[in-house]
Amino acid sequence: LGRAFTLPTGAKIPAVGFGTFASEGSKGESYKAVMAALEAGYRHLDCAWFYQNEDEIGDAIQDFLRESIGTVKREDLFICTKVWNHLHEPDEVNWSLEDSLKRLKLDYVDLFLIHWPIAAERTKDYKPLIGPDGKYVIKNELTENPEPTWQAMEELYYSGKAKAIGVSNFTIPHLRKLLSFAKVNPHVNQVEIHPFLPNEELLEFCKEKNILLVAYSPLGSQNQVPTTGERVSENPTLIKAAEDTGHTLAQALVSWGVKRGYCVLPKSSNPERIRSNFQDYEMPEKDFEVINEVAKGRHSRFVNMKDTFGYDVWPEESVVASP
Ligand code: A2P
Repeated sequence: LGRAFTLPTGAKIPAVGFGTFASEGSKGESYKAVMAALEAGYRHLDCAWFYQNEDEIGDAIQDFLRESIGTVKREDLFICTKVWNHLHEPDEVNWSLEDSLKRLKLDYVDLFLIHWPIAAERTKDYKPLIGPDGKYVIKNELTENPEPTWQAMEELYYSGKAKAIGVSNFTIPHLRKLLSFAKVNPHVNQVEIHPFLPNEELLEFCKEKNILLVAYSPLGSQNQVPTTGERVSENPTLIKAAEDTGHTLAQALVSWGVKRGYCVLPKSSNPERIRSNFQDYEMPEKDFEVINEVAKGRHSRFVNMKDTFGYDVWPEESVVASP
């Protein structure tokens, strides 16, 4: 069922996964989307504690496995989840995975990630603490030195509750720091990648360090208006490159990512688009070069939590280059 990469642990990870962040968050939507994805053939689900929909996703997984009457088993699925910023103390990292496992109704995950390189305070009932300015209350020490957080991740890896561990939204400087003390190097770094944010340097760095990249918003976050005004989905060169081989732009963007050597997580709540996005293909070299040319020199991030967090994860990017 589709192409796969091999993690540094030796485990296979399906190249095309399903993103489960539900922006509307309405009850039942994530269940329907995940069920449609599993029925369409996706076996890799990208979840997170923060998305607040792991109960529904767990129900969909259970129902799907039951309905498939033994043809698909738990071990055929690749499930990832992530620990949110306010749960970075070692005992909280454990709490977070246990809470996700309970909701997902699983006894292990295939991959567990630190969602952002930011540690923040929590309330007594394990919710993020929001300060008077409406932003997260950052824990500076643990943000600057995430070693205790990573040690807790390593313990979960040793215990087998997380078959692989990694990070998300980490830049090269964040990774360098982590690698300086890690006993288990991160197996994965999940970041935003699409033709307007090709992340070439990070891709090179991760290849060199044997860290697999996973791309979120591979379609260019089409529901967000970029600061530059241009949407990936409206770029005529990209549209033509897809049309030339009789594919949709989304299929071309997924296939471009897989050809560049990383996992891709298209996200949709529409069953037809969920199915069609899974139909990736071996992109001809000519189209690959055309998309690479469009991507060259671009650096337009569509996902930036700076205002929410009150903390700049990407200080080296104070000026966002326009395409
Ligand atoms: P929808 O849920 O209505 O399909 P990203 O993952 O890059 O952030 O983008 C997700 C957005 O892209 C969602 O708004 C989703 O809307 C939209 N989308 C997903 N698949 C397609 C597709 N094949 N064609 C057009 N838009 C798509």
